[in-house]
Amino acid sequence: MPVDPSAERLVLRRPDDWHVHLRDGDTLTMVARHTAWPFARAIIMPNLTPPVTTVDAARAYRDRILAAVPAQAGFTPLMTAYLTDEIDPEEIARGHAEGVFTACKLYPAGATTNSAAGVTDIRRLDAVLARMQEIGMPLLVHGEVVDADIDIFDREAVFIERVLAPTLARFPALKVVFEHITTREAVDFVRAADERVAATITAHHLELNRNDLLVGGIRPHNYCLPVAKREQHRIALREAATSGNPKFFLGTDTAPHAIADKESACGCAGIFSAPVALESYAKVFEEEGALEQLEAFASENGPRFYGLPLNEGSVTLERCAWTVPEIVEAGGLRIRPFHAGQSLGWRVLRAD
Ligand code: NCD
Ligand code: ZN
Repeated sequence: MPVDPSAERLVLRRPDDWHVHLRDGDTLTMVARHTAWPFARAIIMPNLTPPVTTVDAARAYRDRILAAVPAQAGFTPLMTAYLTDEIDPEEIARGHAEGVFTACKLYPAGATTNSAAGVTDIRRLDAVLARMQEIGMPLLVHGEVVDADIDIFDREAVFIERVLAPTLARFPALKVVFEHITTREAVDFVRAADERVAATITAHHLELNRNDLLVGGIRPHNYCLPVAKREQHRIALREAATSGNPKFFLGTDTAPHAIADKESACGCAGIFSAPVALESYAKVFEEEGALEQLEAFASENGPRFYGLPLNEGSVTLERCAWTVPEIVEAGGLRIRPFHAGQSLGWRVLRAD
């Protein structure tokens, strides 16, 4: 749909977020409504402590999420299973058949927050991946190798070579989402792959490069994993997201951490983007002269890849300068959102 560049309002089919961390307990109560406000559905990451590895745990977590969001939000959490070396393929298949597990998440052990129980070698997942391939269940990958000799800025590119490409070759019908891609190499790989391979792109990786982490002082609130890369990679991500290519879709990777845990000698990885996510994407698409591509990226490409219906409702963004709060607070928890203290030019006015 063509968009008039001077339009004061932007109406999109209601979007989904294909990668979110909602946490649990008080944090869940505090953050879930930020995702459920503009987004109709979200893929819920399973990296709780302990991780979500069983159908029962996923069902109980889904109930806690539904209890945390207002019923009128009409929000559907799509649950994922956290893959471990020992996970039982039959538990995964049962969860999928019972409509509890939408997908499985692969965290290489040690790659990121709460990934200690993750997978030590993808070959250990052969039986699980074979079963997933058979039932058409997508594998969502945190695409970084963790070998100590690989520079942190190279971990994604090396993952493609050492893990992703060989796995796709061994499982020729397995559907894979390469999550939160951060490099030109990942963009090129996904573009060239066949149609069972797609990727999510976060708002923060469209906005930040590695200078934003380090120039003028270390900026822990811009630290996430995979870490932001050089400017040329950010440019490649912006081209991919705004290109209209159906393989790329919205996944914020919103990952809240208490301010004290980020502003620390060993600060946590994760950016809490949920309160500004759709606005931040709209800013990027507008800067790229591609607002007419936002709806496909936010609301169409994801459900088509997952084989789910498109949402019926809509979301309205209004052109309006507003300043993002420095802190989002509730129940004693203090979290600094993405774009804190900055001015944004679009704001979600309504969602139905
Ligand atoms: C995520 C988290 O905090 O759970 N952190 C992040 O930097 N993105 C985990 C993840 O997705 O890597
Ligand atoms: Zn994540």
